[in-house]
Amino acid sequence: MLPHKHIELKLQAAVRAVLPDADVSAVLVRPCPDPKFGDYQSNALMSLAKVRKLNPRQLASETLAKLVVSDVCEKVEIAGAGFLNFRLKPSALAQSLESAARGEHLFFVKSASPKTAVIDFSSPNVAKPMHVGHIRSTILGDCLARTLRLLGHRVVTDNHIGDWGTQFGMLLLGWKRFWVDNQKVPSDIETLVEIYKSVQAEIKNQLAQFVEPRGTLKPVSDTENQSRMELVKLQSGDAENLKIWHEMIALSQNQFDTIYARLGVKFDHALGESFYNPRLKPLVDELLAKNIARESEGAIAVFFEDNPHLKEHPTLVRKSDGGFNYTTTDLATLAYRLETWKPDEIIYVTDGRQQLHFQQLFATFAKWKAQLPSASSHLPKLAHVWFGSILGEDGKPFKTRSGETVKLADLLDEAEERAFKIVSDKSPELAETQRREIARVVGLGAVKYADLLPNRQSDYVFSWDKMLALQGNTAPYLQYAYARIRSIFRKSETWNKEHRTKNIELKAPEEIALAKHLLNFGLALEAVAAEYRPNFLCNYLFELAGKFTSFYENCPVLKAEEATRVSRLVLCDLTARVLKQGLDVLGIEVVEQM
Ligand code: ARG
Repeated sequence: MLPHKHIELKLQAAVRAVLPDADVSAVLVRPCPDPKFGDYQSNALMSLAKVRKLNPRQLASETLAKLVVSDVCEKVEIAGAGFLNFRLKPSALAQSLESAARGEHLFFVKSASPKTAVIDFSSPNVAKPMHVGHIRSTILGDCLARTLRLLGHRVVTDNHIGDWGTQFGMLLLGWKRFWVDNQKVPSDIETLVEIYKSVQAEIKNQLAQFVEPRGTLKPVSDTENQSRMELVKLQSGDAENLKIWHEMIALSQNQFDTIYARLGVKFDHALGESFYNPRLKPLVDELLAKNIARESEGAIAVFFEDNPHLKEHPTLVRKSDGGFNYTTTDLATLAYRLETWKPDEIIYVTDGRQQLHFQQLFATFAKWKAQLPSASSHLPKLAHVWFGSILGEDGKPFKTRSGETVKLADLLDEAEERAFKIVSDKSPELAETQRREIARVVGLGAVKYADLLPNRQSDYVFSWDKMLALQGNTAPYLQYAYARIRSIFRKSETWNKEHRTKNIELKAPEEIALAKHLLNFGLALEAVAAEYRPNFLCNYLFELAGKFTSFYENCPVLKAEEATRVSRLVLCDLTARVLKQGLDVLGIEVVEQM
């Protein structure tokens, strides 16, 4: 068992002995922010003392009297208002590293109580090119899925593709015109986008002809009318329109699949919005019957009078023309997921502009849930994991030079191209195919890492130079650190896998610091999973690479005498494995040589 887990369990037992009624699940042991005070710390006693109006230092010393951790720690210290500080014994540290070297663990443990999580991410809209904005949801969602899986949870990923909605009226109209003009169907996504844009522009033009004022009714143009008719036909099951709709979906799916394959992202399901069509009407009927929704000006809406934040923001579940809304589909989706996968948690990854939508969705679900027979149903935690925008270096939304949104495929091409130049400058001696492969791994890695590193809720500035730099907190820096360690092993004639069973000796301060940091890999993973924040892992890995560098600069490896050499090689090997595993969780590959 990892020392901090061992300390945590012992501490929980000691707290239970002193306060038999306390909920010890919040009694946690975390890395000390300042190594001056120790390796691990717990502040749990202070909050326990506070709610009980006890003296925290008094509680700390009573707990300490019941705490036996001398097998892994030096003397435990009470600090400040009632912190407990723990310092690991070198023997405990070495033992953890030795068991990792033997392959028994890699500094993380699978969850003792695995949960089922559904992750709804990427979810682009059909018949529109995937653009740079979709990358955040795709990469963030994929990373959360990988993290939870590694920690032993059951994960169901579902790509909630926008394959239904008003845009299809315009697309159908445009498709039919294209056929008349060209005697062939559109064969790529770009043509589909053109079609869509031209119908949209036509409507805009026609609307501009209307002279104000025209009363309270919103004017409708001819083209708009025709589009609506196409949509109604599609919705009522018209064979021709359904066929075209399927073709449009297939075209988009092609594009999506190519991008996902490049990014190494897979989904367990891709149940688009259209999948839920048959469920929408019964759902609204149920909401009405349960008094969760009511009629309002011809439409059906859910009101949140008792919620100060949403009081002014009712949500529609049926429009006055009988059409259904985004929320309706999401409610049906939620119900389907509950029935099908019985999740403990559903995670939605979208941009921050959808916050109100998800607040409304979750509040509606809360009303609904209040009416479910609680014993018979499994009710999950719902989380909206939202993110900010990607900005250009001018601080405005990231666009191409001509002001268009950046297509994801072009962006990935450029990343690989730029990485290829860098690799070719640095290692011209490598064969071109090898440089191309390195460039692919480094280019994609750079883009992904730049996306995962910032606090997800802030906007970030997209900068090629920054993300591809070999220095600083970047993917190439971490990939390079990995490749550098691998090169040590290429140079080491004496190393073989049996050395992984040898004793580890930790003497130099840089060696000890590196070893201690390795121990906390699992804590970083758990923090990512608990707060849906991959940046915790990015920073952990960056620090790891930094600690490795100071170790490597101060502690000779290959030139050291046998026992020290082997011990240090094991430390190198473990660092490489953690770097590789950590990057893998971020969806980033490594290469043996750069
Ligand atoms: N298709 C939507 C969009 O591109 C995102 C869907 C997110 N998932 C959901 N269940 N609403 O904006």
